[in-house]
Amino acid sequence: MKKYLQRREFLSKMWAWGLGLAAVAAAWTTWDVLQPSQTSGFGGSIKVGDSEDVPATSVETVPAAQAYVTKDGDEDIALWWRCPHLGCRVPWCESSGQFECPCHGSYFNRLGEYRSGPSPRGMDRFATEVVEGVVIIDTGNITPGAPPGPESIDEPVGPPCEGGGQG
Ligand code: FES
Repeated sequence: MKKYLQRREFLSKMWAWGLGLAAVAAAWTTWDVLQPSQTSGFGGSIKVGDSEDVPATSVETVPAAQAYVTKDGDEDIALWWRCPHLGCRVPWCESSGQFECPCHGSYFNRLGEYRSGPSPRGMDRFATEVVEGVVIIDTGNITPGAPPGPESIDEPVGPPCEGGGQG
């Protein structure tokens, strides 16, 4: 009889331990799933690379973010490659040093500021932050480009690219 009780007690404890472990595993999984993702696809945050590698006189394309990064002084900025006119992708033209939209001929300077063409404003920007020297673009946080007006930089304009961009 005593042996039977010991076995029953043992099995009861094992069940309690098993249920306890299952509850801990379920709680951990729930907590993990509900945590916001540090890095994700377009619409979320995307790591670019070291801030010190962001070009100051040109741009770097970041396909995952549909963006170009460049420097505005010491600040890293990210421009959405989507034209504010009708949404074409606006390529950077290395020879002219500006963005040239191939669809209807809107032009923007290196900071995405409006230069000419049918676009109603400059290129839209994504929010950026630098964490431990690494640039992160928040593609879910978009600021519309500034309306046409004076440019904040004075950089020379070279020969344009055929059909816009691809320099
Ligand atoms: S879509 Fe770029 S100028 Fe029309």
